[in-house]
Amino acid sequence: MAVEVYISEDQIKNKVTELAYKINEDFAGQEIVVICVLNGAFMFCADLVRELTVPINMEFIKASSYGEGTNSSGSIKFEVDVKNNLAGKNVLIVEDIVDTGLTLTKIMEKLKAHNPAQMKLVSLLFKPSRNRHPVKIDYLGFEIPDKFVIGYGLDYSNRFRELPYIGIFDEDN
Ligand code: PRP
Repeated sequence: MAVEVYISEDQIKNKVTELAYKINEDFAGQEIVVICVLNGAFMFCADLVRELTVPINMEFIKASSYGEGTNSSGSIKFEVDVKNNLAGKNVLIVEDIVDTGLTLTKIMEKLKAHNPAQMKLVSLLFKPSRNRHPVKIDYLGFEIPDKFVIGYGLDYSNRFRELPYIGIFDEDN
């Protein structure tokens, strides 16, 4: 088992600053509800909100796919839901990775039903080669190839989330 550093701590820090800058500009003078998608986005979200200068409210949501899994049009079960109504609010969803896009598609459908004033998505990572359910990523960190990435919130069997960088997991080495 070996972990190769793929996106370093410094690269992540710079990207978080860049994304926060754009978000601060776009939402200047407004309040936003930041919705952290658990579990994977916890670290990215914690770093991102510390660089936001606009007033925020924090919410959390957790969705798990089951049945046919994330490679299909599978189903999603919500395990944690937002606590407040989002009607008329500016919503910013914070995700660690968009892979097939199923999770975000379902989350966005659910949140749209609240009738927010606007809903934007920031994702640290995007795997275009695996995308089956197109979602508009308003603020994107990095496009990555179809490799198994871990660290900075992302897991392999619930391990490695604490790594401060994003690594590529290679079980064979
Ligand atoms: C990961 C990730 C995204 C989702 C992306 O979550 O955090 O939420 O998968 O995959 P998709 O685009 O194919 O739907 P996971 O279900 O592994 O749970 P975790 O966040 O708790 O690790």
